[in-house]
Amino acid sequence: MRLTVNGTEHVLDLDPRTTLLDALREHLGLTGAKKGCDHGQCGACTVLLDGRRVNSCLLLAIAHQDSHVTTIEGLDGHPVQRGFLEHDGFQCGYCTPGQICSAVGMLDEVDRGWPSAAADDDPLSDAEIRERMSGNLCRCGAYPHMVPAIRQAAGR
Ligand code: FES
Ligand code: FES
Repeated sequence: MRLTVNGTEHVLDLDPRTTLLDALREHLGLTGAKKGCDHGQCGACTVLLDGRRVNSCLLLAIAHQDSHVTTIEGLDGHPVQRGFLEHDGFQCGYCTPGQICSAVGMLDEVDRGWPSAAADDDPLSDAEIRERMSGNLCRCGAYPHMVPAIRQAAGR
């Protein structure tokens, strides 16, 4: 199968049941995306698929050969990453790659006018950011610092 990740096309000989997360971590050595629950519940495995945030543990790699995958390794220096660094948006860091990928996808959803998640007029209010990021769990509870990090990345 072919997989295009962070702008590079790879040819892999994998079991067709291989998830996108396992293809990235076990076969391409891209270990930024984490396997937290492996059941679509924690968001640690979040990557961008053609710019849309997805849980890579729930997707079969072979089904996405024509898509462009972006992982945390492909977001080096992104404003969201800088925001997390400047606002201390993490503690142990385990959830952080997924949080950052998710925030990048979320800000794109806001730009494209996706409807409010928390019924707030301001798409970047604290409540909106928290609701829109609610698919990404953080066992360290670093949420309060992630909110300003994301708002900073949005230029607010
Ligand atoms: S590892 Fe994919 S959602 Fe938890
Ligand atoms: S920073 Fe530790 S799980 Fe989120």
